[in-house]
Amino acid sequence: MAAAYFFSRFTTFPFLFSLALLCGFSLAGDPSVSYVFEVSYITASPLGVPQQVIAINGKFPGPVINVTTNYNVDVNVFNRLDEPFLFTWNGIEMRGESWQDGVLGTNCPIPPNWNFTYSFQVKDQIGSFFYFPSLNLQRASGGFGPIIINNRDRIPIPFNEPDGEISFMIGDWYTQNHTALRGVLDSGEELGMPDGVLINGKGPYKYTSSVPDGIQYETINVDPGKTYRIRVHNVGTSTSLNFRIQNHKMLLVETEGHYNLQTNFTDFDIHVGQSYSFLVTMDQNASSDYYIVASARFVNETAWQRVTGVGVLHYSNSKGQASGPLPVPATDVSQLWSVMNQQRAIKQNTTASGARPNPQGSYHYGEINITDTYILRSTPPTKINGSVHATLNGISFLNPSTPMRLADKHKVNGVYKLDFPERPADNIPPRLESSIINATYKGFIQIIFQNNDTKVQSFHIDGYSFYVVAMDFGNWTEDKKGSYNNWDAASRSTVEVYPGAWTAVLLSLDNAGVWNIRVQNLDRWYLGQETYMRIINPEENGSTEMDQPGNALYCGALKSMQKDQIHSSATSILNGKWNLVFSLVMVLLALVPVFFC
Ligand SMILES: *[C@@H]1O[C@H](CO)[C@@H](O)[C@H](O)[C@H]1NC(C)=O
Ligand SMILES: *[C@@H]1O[C@H](CO)[C@@H](O)[C@H](O)[C@H]1NC(C)=O
Ligand SMILES: *[C@@H]1O[C@H](CO)[C@@H](O)[C@H](O)[C@H]1NC(C)=O
Ligand SMILES: *[C@@H]1O[C@H](CO)[C@@H](O)[C@H](O)[C@H]1NC(C)=O
Ligand SMILES: *[C@@H]1O[C@H](CO)[C@@H](O)[C@H](O)[C@H]1NC(C)=O
Ligand SMILES: *[C@@H]1O[C@H](CO)[C@@H](O)[C@H](O)[C@H]1NC(C)=O
Ligand SMILES: *[C@@H]1O[C@H](CO)[C@@H](O)[C@H](O)[C@H]1NC(C)=O
Ligand SMILES: *[C@@H]1O[C@H](CO)[C@@H](O)[C@H](O)[C@H]1NC(C)=O
Ligand SMILES: *[C@@H]1O[C@H](CO)[C@@H](O)[C@H](O)[C@H]1NC(C)=O
Ligand SMILES: *[C@@H]1O[C@H](CO)[C@@H](O)[C@H](O)[C@H]1NC(C)=O
Ligand SMILES: *[C@@H]1O[C@H](CO)[C@@H](O)[C@H](O)[C@H]1NC(C)=O
Ligand SMILES: *[C@@H]1O[C@H](CO)[C@@H](O)[C@H](O)[C@H]1NC(C)=O
Repeated sequence: MAAAYFFSRFTTFPFLFSLALLCGFSLAGDPSVSYVFEVSYITASPLGVPQQVIAINGKFPGPVINVTTNYNVDVNVFNRLDEPFLFTWNGIEMRGESWQDGVLGTNCPIPPNWNFTYSFQVKDQIGSFFYFPSLNLQRASGGFGPIIINNRDRIPIPFNEPDGEISFMIGDWYTQNHTALRGVLDSGEELGMPDGVLINGKGPYKYTSSVPDGIQYETINVDPGKTYRIRVHNVGTSTSLNFRIQNHKMLLVETEGHYNLQTNFTDFDIHVGQSYSFLVTMDQNASSDYYIVASARFVNETAWQRVTGVGVLHYSNSKGQASGPLPVPATDVSQLWSVMNQQRAIKQNTTASGARPNPQGSYHYGEINITDTYILRSTPPTKINGSVHATLNGISFLNPSTPMRLADKHKVNGVYKLDFPERPADNIPPRLESSIINATYKGFIQIIFQNNDTKVQSFHIDGYSFYVVAMDFGNWTEDKKGSYNNWDAASRSTVEVYPGAWTAVLLSLDNAGVWNIRVQNLDRWYLGQETYMRIINPEENGSTEMDQPGNALYCGALKSMQKDQIHSSATSILNGKWNLVFSLVMVLLALVPVFFC
């Protein structure tokens, strides 16, 4: 019936043509989906103060990108801000496609009123990720949204299919916008205490009299007895958050694309840039609604009370509103040695399938010899040449005006140096440089993140997942290798590093390209705490790294190669609409082969 309707409704030549194309393609290739993202300012008052936030297609947070392993994803981004813009895809490995990574080292920024289409494949990945604007603190004003990569049908997930799914974007928030916050950092000041925490772009429920009236808060409607998969992302500026749901256990099942040994928690610390999935069963008696809380962590929690996000979990049979004090985290972080226990409790489920049918633990990372060790030490902001910067190994990264692979491709020399030091040196003064790591393709390396700064930081590597084999206080030394988890360490892409402590990660350099290594805390990133790894296959034949995409934008030394874009906003909006229609058709077509081929 459905098929007949489909044909009678759509038997036009172009449709059959596309159908034929897709049937052919789906045997050899993977389905495609496309999205159109119009990025603009809208006015919102999440904390009761009107401000301009960055919206996507008028939404804050932005829409979900919901795809399946190996899909080809196009996102045509129209920049309607008054400043340059790039999206980056946090945790998406973009194999061989650093051209699409959306950071300044790999992409020219999209100028105001221009558009650029990202095209990448979510190759061999499953799980929970997010996208966000990578430039100049823009994430502090929004522009973020969730990415979900579902398992292919034939690959089982290691738990029962949940009854529903809920995404939470949590993050600290300032009523000042990103340009004002940039001014604070440029003047050498710290950002200071945020004005609140948002849950899905909304302010706190009035759980106490100090919350102003009239604030819109997040309400999650659920049915008793059902189990939901909740995906939680810390998209904030710089604050670690403790996430909890009153009276409910949270069963941790996935960390940034890898299934865990399932473990119950009453509350969980989620650091800036991290993503997790939990299963939560609605097993309470609904005598009232329940609080959903995201509160500041690893700061003076008494002084930072206003930095608390509160939403409401509403059972369909609820008998009343949530009231009374917020639940408190069960884990005690006042004890130095206990703060790492949660992270240490995350173990990979080695027998579960990931994106492929073979078990996640079939790659025996613990048996591979380490080829190189990099110690990256972060230090607190310091003055270099009269202004304040933050460094890794004494280097505050200066973004080259020509993206690095683009410079390689077009033989622009001197844009960057391949001399990033493998270890910090105490006797060299801090400096500003475009210095990156000359990494060896197919090497198996360890990176030690050593936090000599004063706050919890989280570090991220684009293009990769890494094994978090150890973390501890003090300085890392060679003999710490004896304490590594060489069997079932969590594999992820963003890891926390406590002040005065280190975190060791292992990774196999099998993804060619130029990949960003950064602190996820926006203030320190803005001040220069990042670098890149350049990983080139010496026998590249087009199969490990993609060639430059045809629509790449040009800038810096290559600016003259950029053709002008027709960018009257009216035209583009029309294009946007057409693309929306087109993308819907594409989604339908992506389903067609399932039924007809
Ligand atoms: C950001 O805030 C500054 C200072 O309050 C203001 O001048 C500017 O117009 C704001 N920018 C946007 C895009 O709202
Ligand atoms: C994502 O798509 C799948 C179908 O592929 C659907 O079952 C699921 O509800 C979608 N999730 C969201 C959050 O849109
Ligand atoms: C801009 O959008 C148009 C469609 O509206 C598309 O054809 C074009 O490829 C896009 N430009 C880039 C650089 O991706
Ligand atoms: C690990 O994965 C297996 C295979 O899917 C599953 O049966 C098992 O319940 C999982 N174990 C834990 C503790 O999560
Ligand atoms: C987690 O907690 C729930 C609710 O208390 C319980 O039913 C479940 O068995 C627990 N699961 C594990 C793996 O501990
Ligand atoms: C519901 O649960 C709460 C807390 O567990 C308990 O105090 C209360 O008495 C229960 N109410 C009913 C109607 O069972
Ligand atoms: C935390 O802040 C409160 C309120 O500002 C203050 O009274 C207290 O001394 C602070 N505690 C610590 C350990 O600094
Ligand atoms: C690792 O190194 C040891 C000694 O350095 C060597 O005996 C062993 O063969 C190496 N293993 C592999 C897989 O290369
Ligand atoms: C300071 O600026 C000058 C001129 O721009 C530059 O030559 C020098 O390398 C800079 N010093 C450091 C430490 O970055
Ligand atoms: C980068 O490393 C490769 C292989 O280790 C080496 O051949 C090359 O000379 C290095 N390049 C620079 C600029 O150091
Ligand atoms: C850790 O390393 C720093 C920098 O090299 C050094 O100043 C400090 O004394 C070391 N700390 C310990 C406990 O060894
Ligand atoms: C940072 O390093 C200095 C010396 O280089 C040391 O005195 C200090 O204790 C370290 N601080 C942290 C938080 O690691």
